[in-house]
Amino acid sequence: MNKTAYITGGSKGIGLGIAQVLLKEGINVAISARTQSDLKTAEEHLKAIGKGEVIVIQSDVRNLANEESAIQKVVATWGRLDYCIANAGIGKFSAIDEMTVEDWNAVVDINLTGVFHTVKACIPALKKSKGYIITMASLAGTNFFQAGAAYNASKFGLVGFSQAIMLDLRPYEIKVTTIMPGSVATFINGQTPSEKDDWKIQPEDIGQMVADLFRMNPRTLPSKLEVRPSVPPSARK
Ligand SMILES: NC(=O)c1ccc[n+]([C@@H]2O[C@H](COP(=O)([O-])OP(=O)(O)OC[C@H]3O[C@@H](n4cnc5c(N)ncnc54)[C@H](OP(=O)(O)O)[C@@H]3O)[C@@H](O)[C@H]2O)c1
Repeated sequence: MNKTAYITGGSKGIGLGIAQVLLKEGINVAISARTQSDLKTAEEHLKAIGKGEVIVIQSDVRNLANEESAIQKVVATWGRLDYCIANAGIGKFSAIDEMTVEDWNAVVDINLTGVFHTVKACIPALKKSKGYIITMASLAGTNFFQAGAAYNASKFGLVGFSQAIMLDLRPYEIKVTTIMPGSVATFINGQTPSEKDDWKIQPEDIGQMVADLFRMNPRTLPSKLEVRPSVPPSARK
């Protein structure tokens, strides 16, 4: 029986890169996001890979009931859930004196409370499968920067959350890894990846990391992984 994965924020960027790699490994993949048109485009792209099955689910991670029904749909479709990848997130950057309450709430609600909702919803199914949770933190979860108050707070919080739940869930043989990427070529913060982003980590590289984690001998758990571009422009001679 195929293993199954649920990936939040799977319509674009890192989530889509992970979905591509897992499908190529023969894993069935469910992706979720808010924007139906992007989900449709991603579905067509993923189905063309021709390995593993694909379903798309419209869900906003800010809503626990959305995430619970997404997991119910995965279990109703494939009978099990093995991998939960809590990846959905946004970036909004402004100095604290200019930051709006709306931007603060959006970043914290999606990047931190949203991951709590996804994790909460998937635990019953993962207890049965002795499954795996990946959370997508960031190097912004350990390095602070100007205009990063909301994003830093959400990602520092997410790293702490992820390490604590790793301890809570290991008695059930559920593994938890938090990945902390540096710059990845994605659509975050309204960007559009282009050739000028070739020096960055590519989304499928994070997908490869995730696939490698799932192949790790179960006795060993890399619980927190930093990953960065090998030679960013600032490091060039
Ligand atoms: N790109 C980087 O350099 C970088 C570095 C470190 C960490 N990360 C983290 O990687 C994760 C993915 O970001 P990305 O760079 O791949 O960004 P992206 O290209 O903008 O993709 C973000 C994905 O998340 C979804 N999403 C956003 N808000 C959502 C919500 N409320 N509910 C459900 N889905 C939602 C988006 O779809 P909808 O908008 O349609 O919902 C989209 O599918 C984020 O947690 C980000 O913080 C990114």
